[in-house]
Amino acid sequence: MTLPTLPGHPHVHYQDQALHLDRIPARQLAQEFGTPLFVYSKAAMLDALAAYQRGFAGRRAQICYAMKANSSLAVLQLFAEAGCGFDIVSGGELARVRAAGADLGKVIFSGVGKTRAEMRMALEAGIGCFNVESEAELEVLNQVACELGVQAPVSIRVNPNVDAKTHPYISTGLKGNKFGVAHDHALAAYQRAASLPGLRVVGIDCHIGSQITQTTPYLDAMDRILDLVEAIEQAGIPIHHIDFGGGLGIDYNGDTPPKADELWQQLLSRLDARGFGQRLLMIEPGRSLVGNAGICLTEVLYLKPGEQKNFCIIDAAMNDLPRPAMYEAYHAIVPVQAKGDQAPSRYDVVGPVCESGDWIGRDRELAVAQGDLLAVLSAGAYCMSMASNYNTRGRPAEVLVDDKGAHLVRRRESVEDTFALETLLPAAVR
Ligand code: LLP
Repeated sequence: MTLPTLPGHPHVHYQDQALHLDRIPARQLAQEFGTPLFVYSKAAMLDALAAYQRGFAGRRAQICYAMKANSSLAVLQLFAEAGCGFDIVSGGELARVRAAGADLGKVIFSGVGKTRAEMRMALEAGIGCFNVESEAELEVLNQVACELGVQAPVSIRVNPNVDAKTHPYISTGLKGNKFGVAHDHALAAYQRAASLPGLRVVGIDCHIGSQITQTTPYLDAMDRILDLVEAIEQAGIPIHHIDFGGGLGIDYNGDTPPKADELWQQLLSRLDARGFGQRLLMIEPGRSLVGNAGICLTEVLYLKPGEQKNFCIIDAAMNDLPRPAMYEAYHAIVPVQAKGDQAPSRYDVVGPVCESGDWIGRDRELAVAQGDLLAVLSAGAYCMSMASNYNTRGRPAEVLVDDKGAHLVRRRESVEDTFALETLLPAAVR
């Protein structure tokens, strides 16, 4: 039986008016695990990965999941078992991928502010590559590697100065951004890296931004990077792999990004045309692997009609779903039980946090009543991984569904958890 689907969300559908994630009714999940609740579809994640794997069939390629998008151990375990490497940005993320059983040789370490301690930890773990983001970082990494008596495998992240045409907060490849080494300085940085005894140049890297919905910025960045590879190799420094970063967008609200395999078909023909088709290729996708594999289930606490606006107050808030408050991002919000017979009203969907910025959706047409359940869609990426305890709210539980059922992969934080690391002042100082 084919089930109706929500556009852009092939794993979320209604059956007899009831919302399901794969074959599991959303209501059942909310009843069993409570709300707010993040639920992820294993099949949706593996389908998203399969699109990249199809795109790279027959090529030498390494997919390094940018785990900042969703760093749940169970999600990491899933991708590790499917052969992925990981793009990490902290010692904490290194500890997580290790705990999830990742092949540490397939780990690459990005980020503008790696500490000496993090470098040491990553060198001792034997990670695959450091994506170095500044000339100063090259010097420090060289020192740390020499102290340990090893050579650090490095790739320099080059800022290609192309416009990813995305939200300014998630655009990273323009001159004014803090990321990477400027294109004009890159050759000199490579020459310096090649001269340092503690470094071994292995690749080149770029990442131009996130939620990219067009192919052109990728093609532009690719041309700029390939020009550099030619210049660096002419200077006698071989580049073994080329890393094109992540950034592919997903459908939040009728967005139409290219599919991963279609994007790569176009990028690979450009690589072939320029003679780089057989190079080891790397990518760092985050959002496009997990974003539309997750939903957040929430309960309507109150309806509050107003003179200018009606508010639908739910039990999820900006601490659980920070993207609307941070980027004015759109997430679709749908009822868990569709009500064909009730006329919808227009609501601002807001959380209980004491901030006007605590909204999850504005001007949404919803047929809802107090106590109903809603689902916030596209909640698999940059939601739980950016969640906080603001207003002393414990973070939600996380559940992963597969063909065997629903598995709790992170229990709900208790209030005690939120202040477990704190102490009262001793009597002597009161
Ligand atoms: N590689 C590097 C070096 C990155 O900085 C990022 C994301 C990625 C890969 C993965 O990008 P993706 O494929 O997920 O677009 N919190 C924001 C997104 C921040 C992205 C940060 N860097 C949001 O919620 O939209």
